Amino acid sequence: SRLPDILGPDARILIVANRLPVTAKHNGDDWELAPSSGGLVSALQGVTGVELMWIGWPGASVPDKQDQTIITDKLKAERCIPVFLDEEVVDQYYTGYCNNILWPLFHYMGLPQDYKFKKAKDFKSQLEAYEKANQMFSNTVCSIYKEEDIVWCHDYHLMMLPMFLKKIHSNMKVGWFLHTPFPSSELYRALPNRRDLLKAVLESDLIGFHTYDYARHFVSACTSLLGLESYLEGVKFEGRIVKIEAFPIGIDCSKFKHALELPGVQEKIDEFRRLFAERKVMLGVDRFDMIKGLLQKVLAFEKFLEENMHMKEKVVLLQIAVPTRSEVPEYQKLASQVHELVARVNGRFGTLKTTPIHHLDQSLDFDTLCALYAVTDVALVTSLRDGMNLVSYEYVACQESKKGVLILSEFAGAAQSLGAGAIIVNPWNVADVAKSINDALHMSADKREEWHRHNYKLVSEHSAQDWAEDYVCELHNTGTANKTLLQI
Ligand code: F6P
Repeated sequence: SRLPDILGPDARILIVANRLPVTAKHNGDDWELAPSSGGLVSALQGVTGVELMWIGWPGASVPDKQDQTIITDKLKAERCIPVFLDEEVVDQYYTGYCNNILWPLFHYMGLPQDYKFKKAKDFKSQLEAYEKANQMFSNTVCSIYKEEDIVWCHDYHLMMLPMFLKKIHSNMKVGWFLHTPFPSSELYRALPNRRDLLKAVLESDLIGFHTYDYARHFVSACTSLLGLESYLEGVKFEGRIVKIEAFPIGIDCSKFKHALELPGVQEKIDEFRRLFAERKVMLGVDRFDMIKGLLQKVLAFEKFLEENMHMKEKVVLLQIAVPTRSEVPEYQKLASQVHELVARVNGRFGTLKTTPIHHLDQSLDFDTLCALYAVTDVALVTSLRDGMNLVSYEYVACQESKKGVLILSEFAGAAQSLGAGAIIVNPWNVADVAKSINDALHMSADKREEWHRHNYKLVSEHSAQDWAEDYVCELHNTGTANKTLLQI
């Protein structure tokens, strides 16, 4: 790791994210910690040579002080510091402002008509809770902060955090990174508190996005809504240049490679091969979220079967839909719609021998997931918008022997990096996705080999560790080269 040399022996990286890498779960009288899901955790697992501390919400409401102490002690062993948010704040901040307002807006689904979403109240209450939660995160960071530390804030949950931190420690190195898309400024400008949020983020020293387009949209929002000047490096805000840059995340490819060598995983691979012996398998692995385009995926598969009746016993769509935010009515509605559509397709095209769609509302353990990635013929990613989509990377990492085909939505950040080795589709164009399924199933071995080589090189050479190190090094260096800038 380059980090110890660059940051010095005493520096720590304080990772601030809404969700900690472990979630506290009540178990009788005691509390247990279970791993949280999400790309950030695995991305940062590879960071070595420097002390990493996490600050975040433990994922449960813990009103009792004694319980809080128990959880705090358990988290200490995981290098995590909890921010305990009460239920009301979680309803208004997390479910409300984050998931009801920012999430759909950033994924091009606009703003809700009435601002109500589960227990979320009006916009004002949600915004106040958002500020309050960001302030609480800031207090916790400040309580452990030492001068040599680098503070790295993550995601749309914490857009006000840089401002709160800098108010207390103006010299603190603060970075902010967005894991979702940042939408076109024409969409972003609909947000009622659009300017305040931008200004709060601009207190950071470095602002990072997964793609160049997201960075460009953010710069446009700053120039059009705040009247800021843009430069090659970023924008000028309150007399200094705030750096804005694209840092595409990666995965730890070797983790998948090693998993595939384990006897237990090999057994699973053999088992799945036997199970699907007569059929081609198309795989979907997504959080059960509207941004993933699951309805569009099933419609496209239905169309493919309509047009290729002879394939109905020869192909299966295996969809792993990992439950997420399942207490929210919009997500429940989506689940019902998808289930209904899956039932329709299975009813229409199922036979006494086979069922065309094998749909699971479950998350799978890592070994099983690796085995599935390895044995399947096609991966189908139909996100309507997606910050990056690391499922596409994970699929490539496990396809060294099979060299399956990736069908990838043009609206996933990953399309920018894997575009030359995948069939790129517009998920709204059902007919085109159906045709792409057919093309993928019939692609020549030579072409699959060529595409896989391209993808594998990229996925294995741009690791999660590189991503984290590049960002942290850049953040560390901000301020030094801030004077001589070229105006665009
Ligand atoms: O895509 C950004 C992201 O923060 C993911 O890292 C995470 O899986 C998701 O959004 C938020 O999920 P949750 O609301 O369950 O924390």
